[in-house]
Amino acid sequence: MNTIESSGHNIYFDTKLAPLAEIIEKGTYSNIFVFADRNTAEACLPVFREMLDDFSGFDLIETDPGEENKNIDFCIGIWKTLLDFEADRKCLMINLGGGVITDMGGFVASTYKRGIDFINIPTTLLSQVDASVGGKTGIDIDNVKNMVGTFTLPQAVFIEAEFLKTVPKREMLSGFAEMIKHGLIADEKYYQELKAANYQNITTAAIHRSVEIKNEVVTEDPLEKGKRKILNFGHTIGHAVESYSLSKDKKPLTHGEAIAIGMICEAWLSHKNSTLSAEELAEIRAYISSVYPAYKIKEKSFDKLSALMQSDKKNEHGNILFSLLESIGKCTWNCRVAESDIRESMEYYNLTYVK
Ligand SMILES: NC(=O)c1ccc[n+]([C@@H]2O[C@H](COP(=O)([O-])OP(=O)(O)OC[C@H]3O[C@@H](n4cnc5c(N)ncnc54)[C@H](O)[C@@H]3O)[C@@H](O)[C@H]2O)c1
Ligand SMILES: [Zn+2]
Repeated sequence: MNTIESSGHNIYFDTKLAPLAEIIEKGTYSNIFVFADRNTAEACLPVFREMLDDFSGFDLIETDPGEENKNIDFCIGIWKTLLDFEADRKCLMINLGGGVITDMGGFVASTYKRGIDFINIPTTLLSQVDASVGGKTGIDIDNVKNMVGTFTLPQAVFIEAEFLKTVPKREMLSGFAEMIKHGLIADEKYYQELKAANYQNITTAAIHRSVEIKNEVVTEDPLEKGKRKILNFGHTIGHAVESYSLSKDKKPLTHGEAIAIGMICEAWLSHKNSTLSAEELAEIRAYISSVYPAYKIKEKSFDKLSALMQSDKKNEHGNILFSLLESIGKCTWNCRVAESDIRESMEYYNLTYVK
């Protein structure tokens, strides 16, 4: 699969980390750190080492898995660990894990001693098609998603299908939601292909197409002044539902499950406030609900969800702004919608699974 060039760095596909071996062999880095969580240290580190001929010239920084740990306390721990290892500005951090690891590892690297190099090796579908591409790093504050972060690009990204073999089905589905989103916002043919293949048959070619779509958008608008906002389709309501679920539910939604809910709501908003046809709205709702489990957005949570949406980073001058579909494959951004419509879209979602 072709390497994708992205603003000064490469995104490699199924190279068995050969270009990384070359980088390491050059010996220009003073220290190499591998940042992983407990699960990826167990499932992915052996694969990583094997691909690099039993490479052991690194120090492992391991953290607890899960979104609830993508916070400043863990960052402080990692910064201190780097200091304990006397890491200087010439060291390299390799983020080996899902989006939590690439987001938090990227954030730690971009701020430690005002910035050290990092490389992303995304190991979940979600991080391969989305989180590790585009230069956003970040952490949550009080369960509110990605409130602190930087735009910093990695030195390289390595996407290896091999790592997906151990990813649980629920996590595969989480990443699949972002792929559906890429089709909905930018490429109707790709959306239809994904539908035909479904999540059980995800190919490197499909992952490559998702990365290509994301990369085209972020290259055009790296700092999210305009077009990049289309990548947030489903995320205004989705992020609010995800944050709420993280703070309230015993078994919180995954990012992709929350975005699937958000996409149904925001497809409704797209029909009401943009040009998405009733047929396409019905199509999107039927397909997404055939893949993702039912969830109830509790009516008593609507006020809290509105408050969460108010703190969304896409907002300007206090207005909640949405990215809405004009049709399947075409998305617009900076759309203002009435608060009553937001509520109605969530009521529409709640009726999705009612027979
Ligand atoms: N920076 C961006 O542009 C961007 C874009 C989308 C999402 N994100 C962020 O990404 C995060 C979600 O990413 P995620 O879903 O990858 O979460 P994650 O990193 O929490 O991974 C999900 C789970 O899978 C485990 N895991 C990872 N790789 C595995 C493997 N190969 N085998 C077995 N288990 C494995 C992890 O330990 C974790 O328990 C969110 O924090 C979201 O905000 C960032
Ligand atoms: Zn997302």
